[in-house]
Amino acid sequence: MNSPVTPASAAPAPAAAAAHDRILVLDFGSQVTQLIARRLREAGVYCEIWPYTASEQRIRDFAPKGIILSGGPASVTEGESPRAPQSVFEMGLPILGICYGQQTLAQQLGGTVEAGHAREFGRAFIDVTGECAISQGVWAQGAREQVWMSHGDRITKLPPGFRVVAASEGAPFALIADDARHFYGTMFHPEVVHTPHGAALLANFARLCGCRGDWTMKAFRAEAIARIRAQVGSGKVICGLSGGVDSSVAAVLIHEAIGDQLTCIYVDHGLMRHGETEQVVATFRDRFNIKLIHRDASELFLGQLSGVTDPEIKRKTIGRLFIEVFEEEQAKLGGADFLAQGTLYPDVIESVSATGGPSVTIKSHHNVGGLPAHMRMQLVEPLRELFKDEVRALGRELGMPEEIVGRHPFPGPGLAIRIPGEVTREKCDVLRHVDRIYLEEIRTAGLYDAIWQAFAVLLPVRSVGVMGDGRTYESACALRAVTSTDGMTADVYPYDMAFLTRVASRIVNEVRGVNRVTYDITSKPPGTIEWE
Ligand code: XMP
Repeated sequence: MNSPVTPASAAPAPAAAAAHDRILVLDFGSQVTQLIARRLREAGVYCEIWPYTASEQRIRDFAPKGIILSGGPASVTEGESPRAPQSVFEMGLPILGICYGQQTLAQQLGGTVEAGHAREFGRAFIDVTGECAISQGVWAQGAREQVWMSHGDRITKLPPGFRVVAASEGAPFALIADDARHFYGTMFHPEVVHTPHGAALLANFARLCGCRGDWTMKAFRAEAIARIRAQVGSGKVICGLSGGVDSSVAAVLIHEAIGDQLTCIYVDHGLMRHGETEQVVATFRDRFNIKLIHRDASELFLGQLSGVTDPEIKRKTIGRLFIEVFEEEQAKLGGADFLAQGTLYPDVIESVSATGGPSVTIKSHHNVGGLPAHMRMQLVEPLRELFKDEVRALGRELGMPEEIVGRHPFPGPGLAIRIPGEVTREKCDVLRHVDRIYLEEIRTAGLYDAIWQAFAVLLPVRSVGVMGDGRTYESACALRAVTSTDGMTADVYPYDMAFLTRVASRIVNEVRGVNRVTYDITSKPPGTIEWE
């Protein structure tokens, strides 16, 4: 499957970026190509990802200091397989080929690659047998290093000028170098965290290219603003604001770029947490002076959810109503030319994999590709190449309050998917109260930032309890807290028992209708983070 190439990467380089040293990543379709960009950004280096078909002229005009050839799903041993433009090898620039990139580099420079050798995917260990500029100070000669492999084919004859720097039995050309031309190739993925020193290898490559490492979020902000202005011109933009980090940062960034050409629409479905609606209005309308339409549609949503218990029908109902209300509001505005979304890179990967293959729908998300074709607005997605923590850094750069940029993710369908069974206003009120106590205690204990996401779930179960002299027969709730880097996998947060019992005691004492508290200790997979 091809990894998506960001619209930003296809756009002409914004003027603001011109001052920075830059690396060009030619993409052969690996799912982790964006991680190369991310690792370079972490090293303070500006880069762009382009399809491998980029023309020689365009590459020369971009004036990169070095080129990285990404991995990809093809095999160089098959007829029409993708090739890097041959001219990149004659530009006098350092080049790093990763996985497929290494193989095409080897073949295009006169080496041989063969198919069908032992395939190797996942964690592997290699022996460092030599030294080269990109392993310098990272890997010592004689060491055994962990890397993340992903290859079916392998090089069988090195091209002239190359030597082996690290190898294993299964991967005899794990790291190869041509020191004179500064060409390097890895059979493994240095960009993924499972190659523990991979980021340092990439940083060494960037340094070798002569990149100073002075690119920052401040520069990203300036470039993103230039791109938004170039895309939008004098057009009108609307943005669905949810109160979450992503749409909030997108809105503030776009507002900085185009001011009152932006109108935000906040569809309040009545499924928000305690105090959230007031905070959204106060922050965006009062503090940032953004034109904001606040539509209270809670009657409509709760009315239509009445009697609905199936999780997928709940999600679809909420998604459909959201679009209906959003369309009504945008029609009242007289329409718009662009729709802004806070889509992040992991959303792009997840939605591509959900639609690009035979994989089953685990949960229907309505934040990517969820708007109907007839809305026919062009998308403005300024965060499309970023990961969550980078969006937070950008929000801080934009001067946004910590309560918003540091906020845990909150799902579009809100509390509805945290109330298994039928959703009612009363249940929402109970859950809001439980959730408020839980989050208050987490903040008081100083744990909020160590947790990816924490929330309560109101269970459709009643159980017997005793309070004072009386018997109770009331609802149970579950608390959830997970650590994660992108929400795709998650581990349970290991609270100490004293904390959990304190929270449980407050909930049972303070919330009418709840007499039992449980802690969900399921990781993802096999569980999901949300209950529905
Ligand atoms: P799951 O439950 O799929 O959640 O493990 C992964 C992450 O995605 C969030 N999530 C959503 N976010 N719209 C969203 O914007 C949705 O429909 C949705 N469903 C789940 C969830 O909170 C977690 O962070």
